Amino acid sequence: MIYKNISLKKYNTFGLDYKADNLISIKTEEEAISILKENRKIDQPLFVIGGGSNLLFTGDYKGTLMHSEIEGITIEEEHPEYVIVSAGSGVNWDKFVERCVNNGFGGLENLSLIPGSVGASPVQNIGAYGIEAKDIIEKVRVVSVSDGSVSELTNNECRFGYRNSIFKEEFKNRFLVIRVYFRLSTNPILKLDYGSLTDEISKLGGVNIRNVRQAVVNIRRSKLPDPEILGNAGSFFKNPLVDKDFANALREQYHGIPFYDDPSGKIKLAAGWLVDQCGWKGKRIGDAGIHEKQALVLVNYNNATGKEIFDLSEKIRQSVSDKFGIELEREVEVIGSI
Ligand code: EPU
Repeated sequence: MIYKNISLKKYNTFGLDYKADNLISIKTEEEAISILKENRKIDQPLFVIGGGSNLLFTGDYKGTLMHSEIEGITIEEEHPEYVIVSAGSGVNWDKFVERCVNNGFGGLENLSLIPGSVGASPVQNIGAYGIEAKDIIEKVRVVSVSDGSVSELTNNECRFGYRNSIFKEEFKNRFLVIRVYFRLSTNPILKLDYGSLTDEISKLGGVNIRNVRQAVVNIRRSKLPDPEILGNAGSFFKNPLVDKDFANALREQYHGIPFYDDPSGKIKLAAGWLVDQCGWKGKRIGDAGIHEKQALVLVNYNNATGKEIFDLSEKIRQSVSDKFGIELEREVEVIGSI
């Protein structure tokens, strides 16, 4: 289905009301193949979007956006210890998590309530509370944007990193994700080592997969704004990685600074803490602001433009650079001129 001159308001969680010349919404794999085989007939540039929960448009989109509405959740394989479950890329992420938790399949519960669709989970390698999509993704089925051919990438081939994958690097914008296959445990080993999670679960009673989901939902609701009510794209910045010596010097100066050992040997700092220390939490410039409970989240109070949100993010980056000598990297992808 091709829409012309369509509003993007419901295709980005910032709620920005720009327009796209064309938006192709894909409902089946066959439709994706037949449209992309004829790629040359599509107005360029062609850009693939997911649930729009990690995008910042700065103006109308001249060209074609492609978006998956492929539905369907299937149990592909059942083994004594695990199941392989696949979901169409257009399935709402949290609906998928809920279904799996209700079936007693473990692995996704820590990723509850993350906005967006299943198709974005491998692209972004979404993560929360000690789990990343890479820990449970078995393979990813994609259609090539240039010729409509279908292929499957194994977990390794996806080259997952922190909020990163091959789909954001060499394969950027070259594939439309069709289905994602997850390996979930029928005998779940729960991951509860994220501080506030254990406290919240103990308030709910026993440790089980439903309570883990509920605890994550409660924590996220208490800290993060619901995009349906207040436009936002979750964490706007990535947590920066710094060298050990640099981190030690900062710890001498700022005793409460949160830090985490990273498998790379570097130290991961909390971008939210850094932004908060610069005094930004709860600040507002026009209709663009920083959430009052979480300095990592930029919000659109109503009528902010994408450029205003971008400019605010640049001011924040500058102040973190001036105070700490750290250059924050955006997690959100900016689409359009700035
Ligand atoms: N902090 C502050 N002030 C703030 C925000 C945070 O001092 O305004 C401190 C907290 O007290 C804590 C530390 O910074 O000591 C880390 O904060 P938090 O636990 O809230 O987690 P985060 O590092 O800010 C990351 C992910 C989230 C994910 C949570 C939970 C990134 C960029 N963000 O946030 O992911 O939900 O951990 O695992 O990695 C997203 O990607 O959109 C997202 C929300």
